Amino acid sequence: MSDVLHLVAFSGSLRAGSYNTALLHNVRELLPSTMEMTIHSIGDVPLFNEDVEARGTPAAVSALHRSIRTSDGVIIATPEYNHGIPGVLKNTLDWLSRGEPHGFSGIPSALLGASNGMIGTTRSQAATRQTLAALNSPCLPQPQVLVSLVQKRIDASGRLTDASTRAFIGTWLVEVERWMRRFPRREREEAGS
Ligand code: FNR
Repeated sequence: MSDVLHLVAFSGSLRAGSYNTALLHNVRELLPSTMEMTIHSIGDVPLFNEDVEARGTPAAVSALHRSIRTSDGVIIATPEYNHGIPGVLKNTLDWLSRGEPHGFSGIPSALLGASNGMIGTTRSQAATRQTLAALNSPCLPQPQVLVSLVQKRIDASGRLTDASTRAFIGTWLVEVERWMRRFPRREREEAGS
């Protein structure tokens, strides 16, 4: 296959030492040559407020919206906060649900997440999936990357040192590529989605 897929990614954690952001950097390192990925920060996205929106879409939102609309798919790495989706991520998705076309409409997505607990990010990924369905983004159903006890798998420099997790992400990326190629950008543009 000659055409390279361009993916956009962002993390649902804003902290500098975030395991989820580190996970994205490791994913980018593990990408096959048929995919490339740009990692964005959602740190500048303001709190959603329809009054702010009425004055014009904030620059950070427009930039993310544009990147997503011109991508072949989106990868989101999310922590789990109190059994759910982190507020900063939900807030960003709410902003991206606005405008015509919506940031995500027709754009395929895939999730992964890391937590320091035992069950990875099962509940926050389920909640994120539900929101992505509302945004009309087809989200890769399986396999799920639920990185539990992440503090034992990613070292202080952010490197994913656990061999089985690295191998699993490699397998997941094969499915991510297959999934993203099912929703070609050209067809989306022709359909006006
Ligand atoms: C957490 N954490 C957490 N972990 C989990 O597995 N289930 C949970 O419900 C929660 N809830 C929660 C709430 C809040 C406010 C914080 C700050 C943390 C722990 C979480 O997995 C851990 O802090 C991760 O390291 C967060 O991800 P980043 O920031 O490292 O990407």
